[in-house]
Order: sequence, then structure tokens, then C-alpha cells
Amino acid sequence: MEKLTYTHDEASARVIASFYDSPPLAYVHSYGCQQNVNDGEKIRGVLLDIGFGLCENLEQADLILFNTCAVREHAEQRVFGNVGALKKLKEKNPRLIIGVCGCMAQQQHIVDKLRASYPYVDLVFGVDGIDRLPAMLAERLTRGKRYLENPHQRDAVVEEMPIRRDSGFRAWLPIMYGCDNFCTYCIVPYVRGRERSREPADVLAEFRSLVESGYKEITLLGQNVNSYGKGLAQPVDFSDLLNLLCTVPGEYQIRFMTSHPKDASRKLIDTIAAQDHLCKHIHLPVQSGSDRILKEMNRHYTVEQYLDLIHYAKEKIPDVTFSSDIIVGFPGETEEDFQATLDLVRKVEYMQLFTFIYSKRNGTIAAKMPDPTTHAEKAARMDRLLKTQDAVAFPKIAAMAGQTVRVLVEGAGRNAGTLNGRLDNNLVVEFPGEEDLIGHYASVHLTGARAALLVGEQAAE
Ligand code: SAH
Ligand code: SF4
Ligand code: F3S
Repeated sequence: MEKLTYTHDEASARVIASFYDSPPLAYVHSYGCQQNVNDGEKIRGVLLDIGFGLCENLEQADLILFNTCAVREHAEQRVFGNVGALKKLKEKNPRLIIGVCGCMAQQQHIVDKLRASYPYVDLVFGVDGIDRLPAMLAERLTRGKRYLENPHQRDAVVEEMPIRRDSGFRAWLPIMYGCDNFCTYCIVPYVRGRERSREPADVLAEFRSLVESGYKEITLLGQNVNSYGKGLAQPVDFSDLLNLLCTVPGEYQIRFMTSHPKDASRKLIDTIAAQDHLCKHIHLPVQSGSDRILKEMNRHYTVEQYLDLIHYAKEKIPDVTFSSDIIVGFPGETEEDFQATLDLVRKVEYMQLFTFIYSKRNGTIAAKMPDPTTHAEKAARMDRLLKTQDAVAFPKIAAMAGQTVRVLVEGAGRNAGTLNGRLDNNLVVEFPGEEDLIGHYASVHLTGARAALLVGEQAAE
């Protein structure tokens, strides 16, 4: 694996500046997962580094960049719709540069489609292009021609990227990139390349600087954080990394995602139990409750192994909570397989579920599997899954009334004069409060719940 360091590209910055009378403005929008959102923050950082300003309004922009997600068909369709809507803006302002980057741009068929059918898209580059963005923009402006890169994989780690974070108190911190698991339904390994971990010293340095800048919640990111450390010179695993980070003094909490059940260890559970800085909430995507489907998905665990780990965590960590991702309607999923998923949901008692109807991704193994179940049937299963989950979670959430909990205040609540605070277990409570509490911890007395949303009032510290 190649480790690179970002360097400021003054030559490209000068070239770009020469095309504008005043600093140009960029609009950057990221779709998809937190990794992508974090990449979007780096894109903004790089643009600021070479003299761009940022704007939140498409009409004001000299550069519009869509940082895209390819995980489901719906995500891709949305991007094409939003890119299509830019045609009018480009007609009004022919100097506008429109760019598409991120996971969709890692697929040849998407780049071909953009090339052939979206002539007003000027710039296309994949997930490894962010540090080269200054050079690509300079090239696009100097040549006056579209700059469309065909997908390629560099599989490098670039350190010291400039970054403009969206929040001043919650931060994303990637500890690894890529994925080697090749779950049969999933496009991520094809678009994000091979798994590679950052050096613990680099993660620690970024973590320390976040804590020192006042960040209260730091979420460690990786497609499978439990395989952190593979391929690094020094032997280190994810639990070791967590213990290392927890040596940093300060008032903060650590979350992480995603834990792949096949690599989640008892050592990890013991670490969560032992470290106060680690939230007692584990996102452990199970995908299906049927061993047969898990095998077809190439997930490398059985329901029994998964439940063993859940039971161990429930034993070791008082008040531990779980959330999960579930795919409904994987090719060949029978009513019996689906029932097994409902059973599992009842057994684990997840606080939150992220549910998806299977979406066929070209190039994956599952795309070739026979899939006789109709979409209507899959939608009906989804409905039943959501009802089952609500029946499990809502009473548990309501039963929390009476507790006093510490929350990190994230922003304004939906009702006027209220705030939203996130509990350690990832649930949200709405309570009356002043906006100056945003970004700080508060003590909240829970009084009840509306569906999955807790309600409460501020408690004396
Ligand atoms: N690395 C993480 C998940 C990344 S993708 C993990 O292994 O858990 C986030 C979620 O999207 C997945 O957990 C899965 O539930 C869902 N997903 C991925 N590919 C999908 C597809 N082709 N159709 C439907 N859902 C999909
Ligand atoms: Fe996709 Fe599986 Fe990798 Fe997660 S672990 S990103 S689901 S291939
Ligand atoms: Fe989507 Fe890429 Fe993330 S495909 S889910 S943005 S890794």
C-alpha cells in the first residue's frame, strides 16, 4: 500500500485564479454513507486550499460537485435526476463547471453514460481523485475541454488532507478505506478498492487534534472496522486502537461504524465495557436472519454465532443497545427465510433498524442469481419487518421514561423552542432548551416517547 502526503498545489491554484475576477464559489453535495460525507469535507478543504469560496446555493456557484453513492439503484437515479436539473443552470451560465465524483464515478458504465448523455458535465473523477482535484480543475479550465477520468484504483492512503468539517462538535474519522469482503450483493468493494488501514499514529494525531479543538463526538469509520490493522507493519487490532485513542484526555465520546459480525470479537466487547469514552451502542449489521441467505450473501457467520456475540455483549455491558442493517428480498429469499429474519429481530431487540429492499448492482455476484420474488412481495415483507421492529422497539423506548440521561445536544428540535439531544444509545430526545446548548452535553430527564423519539426536560446538572 502506498502512503502519500497531500501537498498544496500552488501552480494549479494560480492557473485557476487567472480564470476568475474574484474568488470562485463551489457548491459540494455528498450522497451516501459517512465515508462519503467525510470525503465531501475533504473536497471542501481542498477547494478552500486553492482559493475557492463555498456556497450553499446552486445559482451562485462557479463549480458544482456531486459526490455520489452507488450502493443502491435509487441512489444513482437521484443523482442522475439532480445532474439533469443542472442543464438549465449551465445554459444560463456557460462558465459553470459541473462535476460528478465519488462511488458512481468508479463504474465504467456510469462514466460512459455521463460522457454520452450529459454533455454539460465537465469533470468526472473517482474516490481516489480528491487530492488531484486542483490539477484536474486547472486542466479543465486551460484546455477548455471536458475532463472525464475513466475509473481506476490507486488504493493509496493520503494523509494530511485539508478538511472543512460540517460540524464543530461531531467529527468523522476514517481509520481505514476500501473493503475486501465482497458480500455478494454489494458494490462497495468494486468502487472503494482494497481494504487499507491508516497507521495508528496518524489516526491518533487526528483524533488528538479533534479533541483539542473541542470535538465532543468522534465516529471512527471503516466498512469493517473490526479488521482494522491488517497489512500494517506493527501488529495492532481495532480494540488496541480504541484503547490507544482512549488515552487522550478530554470530554468526548467515541462511536464507530461499521462492525462486521464475522470479525467482531469478545475482546472488542470487553473493550467497550471497560472504556468510559466508548458509547454503549453497537451497530452490528446482520443483513438476514437466515443461515442459508447469509451463506449466499458471503457474510461468513451464522445466526447462532451472531446471537452468541449479542448475548455476550448483553452480559458484559449493562444497558448495551444494538442497531442493524437488514436487506429484504435478497435473490431467492423465501417466506421461511424472511420469517427467520423477523425471529432474529425479536430476539435481539434492536433499538434501531436500517432496512433496505435488495437492489441489483451490476458486476456483483448476486446480480446473476435468479430473483423470482416480485417487488410487491418484497415491499410487503419490508412493511412487516418495520411493524415487527416497531413492536419490539417502541415499548422499550417508552419504558425509558423516568431515567435521567446525559445527551450531546445536536441541534434544534422539530418543535419551536426545543432541542434534539442524542443519548449514548443513539436514540434522540427532544426537550425545551436554549440554542447555546448546541454542541454541549446536557442532563435530560426523560418523560415519555412519541414512537422512536424520546421527550424530556432538562435536569439540574
Ligand atoms: N460495510 C457495511 C455496510 C456498508 S453499505 C457492512 O458490512 O455492514 C450499508 C448497507 O447498505 C449495508 O449494510 C446493506 O444493508 C445495504 N446494502 C448494500 N448493498 C445493497 C444492495 N445491493 N441492496 C440493498 N441494500 C444494500
Ligand atoms: Fe459491502 Fe460487505 Fe464490504 Fe459492507 S462488508 S461494504 S456490505 S462488501
Ligand atoms: Fe455509497 Fe460509496 Fe458509501 S457506494 S454507501 S457512498 S462507500
